[in-house]
Amino acid sequence: MSLIEAEIMCGIIGVVQERGEVAPFLHQALKRLEYRGYDSVGVTTIANEHLYIKKEKGKIDEVHKKLNLDDLPGSIGIGHTRWATHGIPSMLNSHPHFDCNDEIAVVHNGVIDNFLELRSELSARGHVFNSDTDTEVIPHMIEEYMNEGMDLKAALRRVALRIEGTYAIVVMTTREPDKICAVRDGNPLVIGTQEGVHYISSDIPAFLPMTNNMVLLLDGEIASLSASGVQIEKLSDGSRVQRESIKVSWTADQAQKGGFPHFMLKEIHEQPEAIRNTLRLRRDSIVKATEIIQSADKVYMIAMGTSSHAAMAGRHMFGSLGGVLPICELASDFQDSVYDALSGDDCILAITQSGETTDTIAATKYAKHLGAKVIAVTNVVGSSITQSADHTIITQAGPEIGVAATKTFMVQLTALAQIALTLAESNRKMDRDIILRKREGLARLPEIVSEVITRNEERSRMLAGVFYDKPSFLFLGRGVSVATANEGALKLKEIAYNHAEGYSAGQSKHGPIALVQDGYPVVCVVPRDVTRNRMIGNIMEMKARGASIVSVVEKDDQEVSGLSDHVLEIPAGVESEFSPMPYVVPLQLFSYYVALRKGYDPDKPRNLAKSVTVL
Ligand code: AGP
Repeated sequence: MSLIEAEIMCGIIGVVQERGEVAPFLHQALKRLEYRGYDSVGVTTIANEHLYIKKEKGKIDEVHKKLNLDDLPGSIGIGHTRWATHGIPSMLNSHPHFDCNDEIAVVHNGVIDNFLELRSELSARGHVFNSDTDTEVIPHMIEEYMNEGMDLKAALRRVALRIEGTYAIVVMTTREPDKICAVRDGNPLVIGTQEGVHYISSDIPAFLPMTNNMVLLLDGEIASLSASGVQIEKLSDGSRVQRESIKVSWTADQAQKGGFPHFMLKEIHEQPEAIRNTLRLRRDSIVKATEIIQSADKVYMIAMGTSSHAAMAGRHMFGSLGGVLPICELASDFQDSVYDALSGDDCILAITQSGETTDTIAATKYAKHLGAKVIAVTNVVGSSITQSADHTIITQAGPEIGVAATKTFMVQLTALAQIALTLAESNRKMDRDIILRKREGLARLPEIVSEVITRNEERSRMLAGVFYDKPSFLFLGRGVSVATANEGALKLKEIAYNHAEGYSAGQSKHGPIALVQDGYPVVCVVPRDVTRNRMIGNIMEMKARGASIVSVVEKDDQEVSGLSDHVLEIPAGVESEFSPMPYVVPLQLFSYYVALRKGYDPDKPRNLAKSVTVL
C-alpha cells in the first residue's frame, strides 16, 4: 500500500452552534457535497468531553444505513467526503483523523509534501499512526504543540507554518469543545454565518439551505469559529483580518434537483435562465475587461476541459467581432509552452467555472509573477482564482452540481460574447448596425436555447437508443463549431464512456477518416455560416465511407438534412459567432440519454471530480 495518500478533491463541512445536535445537518451537508466525487465518508462530533466518530468506505447512503450518521450527540462537529487519489479507499484512510488520545479531530483537503519526514519525527516521539494518509500527521502535530501549552489555534498555526504543500484544514478538540479552527492555502474554504451558528465548508452549497451569508477565508489565513462569532487572522503575523460578510445570490432550491431525475438534466434546462442572468452582468465590469484586453500586448486565454472549449469559441468571437485574436492554451501546458513570449505587457483570461482548478490557478499565478494582467471568468464568488485576478467576471449560472459542465459552459460563452461585442464597439472597425444586430442576436439566445431543448429532448433520447452501444464517435465542425464538436465529444466520453473525438472537419481527412466504416457514427455541427458548404463536403466524404451521419443543423436546412441519417434541429436566426450556445445543447442531451440508456449516473461519472484541484 502506498504511503503517499493525498485527499485532494474531497468535501469538507464543519458546524458549531449554541445548542441542538449537529449530526443530521452534517449528514445532509455531506449529501450536498456528493457531487465532488468521493469514495468514503466520515463525521465526528464532540459531546461530554468525548469525540464521537463514524467513518467508513462507501457512499453516504450505504454508510448511513450501516452506521446511522444521524445519531451522534453534540452541537459541534466536522465531516468529510474523501476522494482517494493515490491510495485505497478504506475506513482507516477516511477522515476525520485523530491524535493518539482521540481528543483532536482533523479533516483536510490537499497534499502535505513533507509528511514522510514529519511522520517519522512523530513516530520517533512515540506517536502511533492508523492510516496511510498524509493528513494524519496534523492531529499528532497539534497534540505535540498543545502538550507544550498552546491553544488549538496557536497549535494549528504552528502546523501550517511547518507543513509544505497545499491544504484546507478544519480541526476541533475536546480540550476546547466550543471551537472549530481552520486554515487554508491553495484549497478552498468558505465560512457561513447565521445567528448563533457558524459553518465552514469547501463548497457554498453545503450550508446554503441554512444561510447565504458568507465570509471569505483566503489563502494564508486562519479562522476560529464559535457559535457566537468568527475571528480571522493572518498566518504570517497573527494580525486580525476584518472582513464583512457577503451575500451569495444562489438559493438552496438551485442546489436541489427540483423534480428532475438528475442535476445534469436540470442544469441543461436551466440554461436559458443562466444566459438571461449573465446578460445582466454589470456593464462596467465588461468594459473594464475590455480595457485590460485592449491595452495588452498579447492576449492569452487559458482553461481546462469544458472551459477550454469556451475559450476556443471565445477566441472566434473576439477575432470575428472584436478584432483581437487571443492565443488559446491549456492551462496545464501554459508554462511549458509560453517560454519567453509572455511578458508583463500581456493579459491572461483565465476561464474556470469553479475557480479552483489547480492547473488554471497555477498558470495564472505564473502569469501574475511575470507581471501580466489577469482577468478571471468564473462562476463562484470568492473562489481561489478571484484572489490572483486583477479583474473578475462572475458568471450567473447559479450552483452547478452535475460533474459534467453544461450551464456553466453556456454562461462562460455569454460573458465572452459580451466582451467581444464591447471590444467591437470600442475599436469601431465594425459597422454599428451589424454590432446592434449581433447584440440583439445574443439577447434572443435564452428563447432560442429554450426552443432547442423542447425541440430536441425526445429526439436526443431516441438517438441515444440508436447509438448507445457504438464504441467510438467522431464529432466534426469547422471554425467556431470545432469548439462545439469538442464539447459534444467530451460530454459523451465523460458521462457515457463511449470513446468520442471532437475534431476539425478540415483535419478529419488527414487521419481520423481511416476509422470510418459502415455505420460508424459521425456527428456533424453544421450551422448556416461560412463553414456550411465545406461541412457539406465533409459529410459527403464520410457518407461515401459508410458513416452514419447525425447533423446538428438549422431547422429548414433541407440540403444538409437530406444528406444526414439523423438530424437535431436548431431554430434559424442564430448569429454565427454565438452558434456554439444553441448547437451544443442537443449534444448535451444526447450524452445524458446515452448515459441513462447504459445505466450510468450522469451526475457522478467515474474517476471524475467536479473541480480538479491537483496538477
Ligand atoms: C467538464 O464537464 C468537466 N467536468 C471538466 O472538463 C471541467 O470543465 C474542467 O475540469 C475545468 O473545470 P473548471 O471550469 O472548474 O476550471
